[in-house]
Amino acid sequence: MQFSVKSGAGVSDKIECAILPLFDGRSLGGITAAFDRSLKGGIRKLTRSRDASAKLGQSVLIRDVRGTGAGSILLVGCGPKQSFGAAELVKAAAAAADALAKTGIRSATSFLAVDSAIDAFAAARAIVQATRFALYRFTEQKSRADPKPKLGRLTLALRDKDSPEDARRGVQVAGAIANGVDLARDLGNRSPNVCTPSHLADVARRLGREHANLSVKVLSEAQIEKLGMGAFLSVTTGAEEPARLIVMQYKGAAADVPPIALCGKGITFDTGGISLKPPPKMDEMKFDMCGAAAVIGTMASIAELGVKTNVVAIVPACENMPGSRATRPGDIVRSMSGQTIEILNTDAEGRLILCDALTYARELEPSCIIDVATLTGACVIALGGVYTGLFSTDEALASSLRAAGQRAVDEAWPLPVREEYGESLRSNFADFANSGSREGGASIAAQFLSRFVGDVPWAHLDIAGVAWLQGTAKGATGRPVGLLVEFLLDHEAP
Ligand code: BES
Ligand code: MN
Ligand code: ZN
Repeated sequence: MQFSVKSGAGVSDKIECAILPLFDGRSLGGITAAFDRSLKGGIRKLTRSRDASAKLGQSVLIRDVRGTGAGSILLVGCGPKQSFGAAELVKAAAAAADALAKTGIRSATSFLAVDSAIDAFAAARAIVQATRFALYRFTEQKSRADPKPKLGRLTLALRDKDSPEDARRGVQVAGAIANGVDLARDLGNRSPNVCTPSHLADVARRLGREHANLSVKVLSEAQIEKLGMGAFLSVTTGAEEPARLIVMQYKGAAADVPPIALCGKGITFDTGGISLKPPPKMDEMKFDMCGAAAVIGTMASIAELGVKTNVVAIVPACENMPGSRATRPGDIVRSMSGQTIEILNTDAEGRLILCDALTYARELEPSCIIDVATLTGACVIALGGVYTGLFSTDEALASSLRAAGQRAVDEAWPLPVREEYGESLRSNFADFANSGSREGGASIAAQFLSRFVGDVPWAHLDIAGVAWLQGTAKGATGRPVGLLVEFLLDHEAP
């Protein structure tokens, strides 16, 4: 997909398809009104007859247009003009790409942002991000792939006051983010017999070869054992497939700048272990490595952009399987931190692999640690598929992540983590248990993790609700790569 920007685009331009906004209200206004005049009121006729709606995300394609330079016009509902921000632009641009993907149209010019208050950089980002998201297809495991969308070129129309350089930079940043998102989606979508811990490691290593300032090391089970990661290893004992600890080090700033640490949950399949999950939708537990995928995708994006900061990614990866060697409910293990854990539920495995990753991260003396995990069903109940759950003991870090999510249209919502949520993790036999009461489950999991970070500023992103879509659109979303890259761009070293 190719994106370009153009100043002074208008009604008489020879273009295959013009994508025009329809805002709520009596008059069309702006660019859409200009096209309507050339069409002798043709667009107003459609809105009056309600064949075209201004409802956000609806669209109507008009073919064989006469009177303008455009061959076709796609009218896209954009809702009320006052509330048309980046998030709305993303929805409208995605609707446009979805609609055009069903046609043979190969190129289009988008006028969606020209009558809005969104600046050129943000508008370019929103349109590129949404278009790339909508046109993504995962076909590598089909013997006969469905035909790909024909749309291959999109021109972004700019206002006179817009700087083409700003818009072009927006296209570039969004393109790099979309590449990371696509990588994360591919990893999530790949079947669990293909996307194993070793596969994640291979993909990470390949990135390391592609980028001079990205070095990757992969630790074997023997090396993981040497580090004393008893909690991590307890999850993999039932699995034949070997576990891996992937460490990716990105150097974008001076060596003395402490890194930002990202930890991603990499359970390549979660059966629940001996605390076996029920059959319905168990296939979706191939997505239980989406935290790892997001972290790896983020590293790919920042390496492509050359973000000026140091980042280290730590990905514990393994399968959670039942079997005669599998961990039993009641088993007690010793984490790398020295704290002992009674495993009451082998399905609460994410926190077991992450707690050792957090300890490993802490020893690298990072400025902060952010973990990303499909951690709890409780978070899905709390926030659904809209927001990532954001837990943090550090106000500044939390608000910075939240703001990054808003700007990237990849939002997180704060949920509490505090001492009291840990009370149900009490154990008579070990320092504490890995699972407590059902109520407040997402915050209990977060509180468990907080016991491993000491006083390093830390945030936990529970992506269980947002990492993949269900139903006919079943597939990985690549969230929260957008949020994380935005956050890292905000934290470039001076
Ligand atoms: N990977 C799951 C969480 C999950 C469930 C994500 C459904 C997305 C959709 C995690 O390993 C898990 O099983 N968590 C348990 C924890 C419980 C046993 C304390 C859960 O949430 O039920
Ligand atoms: Mn589980
Ligand atoms: Zn899991």
